[in-house]
Amino acid sequence: MTVLVAYASKHGATREIAEALGRDLRSRGVDADVIRADEVGGVEEYDAVVLGSAVYMGKWLPAAQELRDGCTVEPMWLFSSGPLGNPPLPAPPDLGPRHRTFSGRLDRERLSLGERGIVRVVKAPYGDFRDWDAVAELADEIARELSAVPQSIA
Ligand SMILES: Cc1cc2nc3c(=O)[nH]c(=O)nc-3n(C[C@H](O)[C@H](O)[C@H](O)COP(=O)(O)O)c2cc1C
Repeated sequence: MTVLVAYASKHGATREIAEALGRDLRSRGVDADVIRADEVGGVEEYDAVVLGSAVYMGKWLPAAQELRDGCTVEPMWLFSSGPLGNPPLPAPPDLGPRHRTFSGRLDRERLSLGERGIVRVVKAPYGDFRDWDAVAELADEIARELSAVPQSIA
């Protein structure tokens, strides 16, 4: 039983959430490969997929959107890394019951001048708002659900 944890990240916050999910899954006895969404070769070899994206202007990054649209593996969990403080930015998309929204990180040093301008206009707060307990809870849910699925007989 191996899970693909794929992610699209512009400034690293979502990558680190994906890496934490991978570690949390392994520590719960579930094998996990953590791979950038645009580097995923194929999904067929995986028993489940967890796909996450940073949210910019209310949307997922294109590489994650593409993988989501083309992925036929079941079960598939989705997560968005976006909101900061009291959400001044468009909410992440609503992607159904297997979708979690995790608070993100906004690190001024990593942003382009254009991005800093947007942050100034919408008055989004700088800081790291990621909730590692919430990330571990998703790993719990995935590990629990996968252990309840009977293994297919080859
Ligand atoms: C220019 C800009 C636009 C953003 N737009 C949104 C948004 O529409 N909704 C949201 O929830 N978060 C938004 N965010 C916050 C990011 O999604 C958050 O910082 C995320 O954790 C970044 O992930 P990354 O480091 O993996 O790219 C925005 C951040 C920036 C810099």
